[in-house]
Amino acid sequence: MMGSARSQTWCFLFFFFSFSYFCAAADTISSGQSLTQNQTLISNGGNFELGFIRPGNSLNYYIGIWYKKVSVQNKTLVWVANRNSPITPDHLSTSEFKLLDDGNLVVLNQFKIAVWSTNLTMSNNVIMNSSQAVLKDDGNLVLRNGLKESDIYWQTFDFPSETWLPGGKLKYDNRTKKPHLLTSWKNPNDPSEGLFSLELLPAGNEYVIRWNLTEPYWTSGAWNTQNQIFSGVPEMRLNYIYNFSYIQNENESYFTYSVYNSSITSRFVMDFSGQIKQLTWTENTQNWFLFWSQPRTQCEVYAFCGPFGVCSQKGFPFCTCMEGFEPRSSKDWNLNDFSGGCVRRTSLECGDKDQFYTMSNVKLPAKPQSLPAAASADECRLACLNNCSCNAYAYTSSKCSIWDGNMLSLQQFAADENDGGPDLYLRLAASEIKKPPGGKNNGSNSTGIIVGAAVGIVALLCLVLVLVWRWRMRQSIGTSKTVEGSLVAFTYRDLQSATKNFSEKLGGGGFGSVFKGILPDSTGIAVKKLEGLGQGEKQFRSEVSTIGTIQHVNLVRLRGFCSEGDKRLLVYDYMPNSSLDSHMFRQQEDDKMLNWKTRYQIALGTARGLTYLHEKCRDCIIHCDIKPENILLDAEFCPKVADFGLAKLIGRDFSRVLTTMRGTRGYLAPEWISGVAITAKADVYSYGMMLFEIISGRRNSDHSEDGKIMFFPTWAARKITEEEDALALLDSRLEGDVNEEELTRACKVACWCIQDDESHRPSMGQVVQILEGILEVNSPPIPRTLQVLVENEENIHFYSDTTSNRSSQVQSTSSTSSHTKSSISSTSLKSQKD
Ligand SMILES: *[C@@H]1O[C@H](CO)[C@@H](O)[C@H](O)[C@H]1NC(C)=O
Ligand SMILES: *[C@@H]1O[C@H](CO)[C@@H](O)[C@H](O)[C@H]1NC(C)=O
Ligand SMILES: *[C@@H]1O[C@H](CO)[C@@H](O)[C@H](O)[C@H]1NC(C)=O
Ligand SMILES: *[C@@H]1O[C@H](CO)[C@@H](O)[C@H](O)[C@H]1NC(C)=O
Ligand SMILES: *[C@@H]1O[C@H](CO)[C@@H](O)[C@H](O)[C@H]1NC(C)=O
Ligand SMILES: *[C@@H]1O[C@H](CO)[C@@H](O)[C@H](O)[C@H]1NC(C)=O
Ligand SMILES: *[C@@H]1O[C@H](CO)[C@@H](O)[C@H](O)[C@H]1NC(C)=O
Ligand SMILES: *[C@@H]1O[C@H](CO)[C@@H](O)[C@H](O)[C@H]1NC(C)=O
Ligand SMILES: *[C@@H]1O[C@H](CO)[C@@H](O)[C@H](O)[C@H]1NC(C)=O
Ligand SMILES: *[C@@H]1O[C@H](CO)[C@@H](O)[C@H](O)[C@H]1NC(C)=O
Repeated sequence: MMGSARSQTWCFLFFFFSFSYFCAAADTISSGQSLTQNQTLISNGGNFELGFIRPGNSLNYYIGIWYKKVSVQNKTLVWVANRNSPITPDHLSTSEFKLLDDGNLVVLNQFKIAVWSTNLTMSNNVIMNSSQAVLKDDGNLVLRNGLKESDIYWQTFDFPSETWLPGGKLKYDNRTKKPHLLTSWKNPNDPSEGLFSLELLPAGNEYVIRWNLTEPYWTSGAWNTQNQIFSGVPEMRLNYIYNFSYIQNENESYFTYSVYNSSITSRFVMDFSGQIKQLTWTENTQNWFLFWSQPRTQCEVYAFCGPFGVCSQKGFPFCTCMEGFEPRSSKDWNLNDFSGGCVRRTSLECGDKDQFYTMSNVKLPAKPQSLPAAASADECRLACLNNCSCNAYAYTSSKCSIWDGNMLSLQQFAADENDGGPDLYLRLAASEIKKPPGGKNNGSNSTGIIVGAAVGIVALLCLVLVLVWRWRMRQSIGTSKTVEGSLVAFTYRDLQSATKNFSEKLGGGGFGSVFKGILPDSTGIAVKKLEGLGQGEKQFRSEVSTIGTIQHVNLVRLRGFCSEGDKRLLVYDYMPNSSLDSHMFRQQEDDKMLNWKTRYQIALGTARGLTYLHEKCRDCIIHCDIKPENILLDAEFCPKVADFGLAKLIGRDFSRVLTTMRGTRGYLAPEWISGVAITAKADVYSYGMMLFEIISGRRNSDHSEDGKIMFFPTWAARKITEEEDALALLDSRLEGDVNEEELTRACKVACWCIQDDESHRPSMGQVVQILEGILEVNSPPIPRTLQVLVENEENIHFYSDTTSNRSSQVQSTSSTSSHTKSSISSTSLKSQKD
């Protein structure tokens, strides 16, 4: 009974009278004390609890720490001690969690053998019997000197398992030269170490996620001290909620973070899906809200579908087996644990009896095991066929790749996702090719022939076309201009002279700078110099000619392009009235202020232009960067959307572009940070944000002089939904000169556009109809993400008008969540007008 605090001694005494309930109130165990099956520690403020627990549907028991106040029904674990050495149910009653006299915390099994230990070696005898373990209210279990509490020997915040809590560290230890890993669970019911782990690199300023402790598949990029973001995580600029800080000294480097509003419950996990996730507890839904995750798509997780699995971002579940293969363990597979992968249904016969099955439009498996020299696809095929261990080959850019071991991370693109993916030739036993496999691909042979012939003819036609095109390209070199479709192919020299050597810059953006120019026939042009385009000439031309065919009164017309060497330029019509932002936010003395009628026409025209992009083009074009800077105005103030099609031009890796974007923060839809696929509804979100700005004449978010963030839409959404006071949102410079019905309609539709759930947002076509007055619009609910911001009032200072007399440092009243919840589920966007 050497408990340092008297209460603990008392508590310990009560154990003998099985007064475990009383003891449960304690947050500390001292040297020699232990917890048995039903006994737990509860932190001082009641936030966390520690004890034996069965995670999910697991049968086994573990010593863990879980939230006590939130997530009560399904306990959410934040730390597990003996994750690789569970206690089976029949031995639970004889197992214990004990603080030994030597100062180590251990989990003892039925034989009193430590299956888990803190493994500390402490020499000092005096310290020995005086240590204590305290469960703090932030979820940290601290092992310390009971006589001198600042003497901390060990703490769970230094040794996280799969959860990184606010206040915890994820560090690189410069003394042991080892990172402390955040390692995923195997699956939701098994906390043992899974295949994915997050670690800080030795340089100490960059995180990577690895598969099986080796293969890195995601990196945060280096920490940028000035901007306080990781270079690979530009969306951190969107962050209003977490305070990330970086600490480095001779012993360790680490990041730690806190939540500005301590009543927001948040956790960061290395999820068993291979993604890192930041989750926030929402009282309303009694659930964890996914705030952010990386990598953005499931198929980017290395080997997610295991050996011989195929990942498809459009499919559900994401994983299937390759043709001719079946899951190694259907049980795991059905539990969505795909790591075991697939095995052949029929083993190879070896020799030339085997055949090849073609998978088109794929991302090839990682790491081909050999790259034999092969002059043609046929030689490559033979190289595979002649070696019994070869599983597949691919022949791309005159390079032969052969896989004779595991094939990992093969991804199948959907037809509309990527049309340029290479082919993979999968070696299968002949019997697997002949029999219609598994119900799929069971077209009869005759249709096969017809299809084959058709494909052949089309291929031949394409070849002819390509040859003709090449010939024309050759012809075009040297001449100053050629017409390709309706587009003019300019030479670089032409554009140099038209823009006076790029002297008059009109603006810049994520894709490059824009310069003013005048053609010899004195028409004005705007020339965009694209930057950071990692794309070949052929692909560039094909994308550009697609963009060139898109013409609409509310879209900026592409006149031509230039593609020489690594230079890529686009030539547009010049717009005399510049862009919308210059009229809204950077108003000059002599500028005419846009009146309500003009603003409404701009909103409507922009919506029409976007509708055309989303619905009327042959392929839906998602703009991805809707903001006032990209809405240009012609001489009559007719709006024209600029920069469409460029996101596709830049390619799949759009996040790279985000890094260079300026002022885009306030327009990005939540799905950009939560990692689900981007659809046209992301444009709808940005449009909604912009519409609020058109109405109010203000930027939607800004840093005021004292560095605080003002976020207008939060306040606006509240005004519309709760007070139905649209007039309060109107630009004060208009002095109330407005069509009130139009104003209300515009406010409501803007609020619908910025709903978190994309299915709640209207399509751009519906937006047009609402603004035209053809569709009626109901009262919108307050968007949930904004609500999280509302809950974080300490740091979000709602919009306050500092320039005019209309002073309104608005403090929101606490949100009436039940009301909002029901309106989300029960309201619908619109009802048809008779
Ligand atoms: C522990 O709790 C279980 C269920 O709550 C109960 O059946 C069991 O008797 C308890 N054991 C002890 C030793 O208190
Ligand atoms: C708890 O988890 C189970 C399955 O793991 C799920 O079906 C159930 O909906 C969850 N309950 C709550 C309240 O989240
Ligand atoms: C303690 O040491 C043992 C044996 O070296 C090892 O298996 C175990 O993982 C260590 N425990 C911790 C928590 O580091
Ligand atoms: C510490 O505990 C050990 C054995 O439990 C005992 O022999 C020793 O006297 C104790 N030391 C002190 C300073 O209490
Ligand atoms: C992980 O790596 C180890 C060796 O480092 C290897 O034995 C094991 O098979 C790998 N796991 C998987 C699932 O490939
Ligand atoms: C952010 O955290 C750091 C380190 O914990 C602290 O020094 C700083 O004051 C915090 N910033 C704010 C705005 O709370
Ligand atoms: C890490 O430790 C080494 C010595 O082991 C030292 O030279 C180096 O400066 C330390 N790193 C930092 C960032 O202090
Ligand atoms: C580094 O570790 C040594 C030895 O444990 C300690 O004396 C020193 O204070 C530590 N430095 C920092 C900055 O914590
Ligand atoms: C077949 O491939 C394996 C693995 O690359 C290689 O070790 C072996 O030598 C090859 N056999 C022949 C006959 O080329
Ligand atoms: C913090 O957030 C909670 C909701 O999670 C809210 O009720 C509270 O008012 C906020 N506190 C501050 C100081 O902003």
